[in-house]
Amino acid sequence: MNVSVGIDALSFYTPAYFLDLGLLAEARHVDHQKYLAGLGQERMAVAPPDEDIVTMGASAARPLLDMTDPDCIDWVLFATETGVDQSKAAAMFVHGLLGLGPRCRVVEIKQACYSGTAALRMAADWARRHPGRRALIIASDIARYELCSPGEPTQGAGAVAMLVGANPGILALDDEAGLYAEDVLDFWRPNYRETALVDGQYSTRVYLSALEQTWRHYVALTGRKWTDFCRYCFHLPFTRIAEKGLVRLARMDGGPNPSSDEIRRLVGETLTYNRVTGNTYAASLYEGLTSLLDTAEEDLSGKRIALFSYGSGCTAEFFSGTVMGGYRQRLRGAVHRAMLDSRAALEYQQYEDIMNLPFPVDGGEHVFAQYRTGPYRLAGISQHKRVYETL
Ligand code: CAA
Repeated sequence: MNVSVGIDALSFYTPAYFLDLGLLAEARHVDHQKYLAGLGQERMAVAPPDEDIVTMGASAARPLLDMTDPDCIDWVLFATETGVDQSKAAAMFVHGLLGLGPRCRVVEIKQACYSGTAALRMAADWARRHPGRRALIIASDIARYELCSPGEPTQGAGAVAMLVGANPGILALDDEAGLYAEDVLDFWRPNYRETALVDGQYSTRVYLSALEQTWRHYVALTGRKWTDFCRYCFHLPFTRIAEKGLVRLARMDGGPNPSSDEIRRLVGETLTYNRVTGNTYAASLYEGLTSLLDTAEEDLSGKRIALFSYGSGCTAEFFSGTVMGGYRQRLRGAVHRAMLDSRAALEYQQYEDIMNLPFPVDGGEHVFAQYRTGPYRLAGISQHKRVYETL
């Protein structure tokens, strides 16, 4: 029996603070248009000191518990490349904060920005054999580069939580997927560093060549053309890359370059959230999917959409899915828009102060000042233990 599997519910969270990139452009003596038009970014989300991947992930996941029986959740899979502990999974903290039951597999998973997709595909394969059960997937990251580096304007922070299972309410995944893996060093973060290292121009070239490779594989498996999809969701390190990706696919199919109207139609709605949060690494592709489903005026029921996942290092996957009838009733668009609209704008100096704040590593007692957060916050560090608080 062919059971459909995929995304049953979707929730997005981003911190309550942002920096307008106009202020960054001024501070860096760069033409603001480079960020707005060249990279396609307007604002970057900034996580305050009492917010981390765990609080963001738990805040994204909490509303999903009202959309399923929590006792049906057999997995908590936490995808991140900005982990807070070398041993304990961030998923374990979230499992505790959400009050989930003990009969559960709770794991963190890593391969740069690709890990959310690895979690999704593993959960979907499992779900086929366990109809009625659910996996909770959380992708959560804080994208940080050195101050004054070329990557700085692409920073961001956010989390997406998804319930994955059989007979999903939002997106049924196709089985076929185009894959590509190659051992390269385009972007990485050694354990001893707070900020990522990146060979920026090279990373963009590798991203686009991995797109080509996965597309070839996907086409060989499915025979589909680039015009067979009603929308495209790309991994978004910065939103302008979606345009570059579409142009690459059109050329590979032997067609003319897509017009700017066509580009806007195929990817425009997927970019709305990322443009004002910046890169959310593992969450970025799924933030784009959330943005599409929340903001598209057209009813996408029954339509096939394409997804491209890229994780530096590198692993990539081109896959697709069909939007389910009635999907709009499962969305949280009004909540997401209200969250984005109510964020507080930081002054440039406040941003720099947050970025320069050292994280305590001395094993002492540290109580963190309270900023605006979601329902969870990192209250402090006590003898190397992270202390979380539910508000
Ligand atoms: N007005 C309008 N546009 C302008 C402009 C101006 N005044 N000045 C420059 N631009 C345009 C440029 O022409 C360029 O556009 P094109 O690519 O179409 O030519 C664009 O703005 C960016 O300019 P540069 O290429 O000169 O920018 P840069 O070298 O300073 O930085 C970057 C760009 C390399 C992407 C950098 O932001 C970076 O290192 N980012 C982090 C790494 C990254 O995001 N890599 C993407 C692939 S890796 C990945 O996907 C994994 C991940 O999440 C990190």
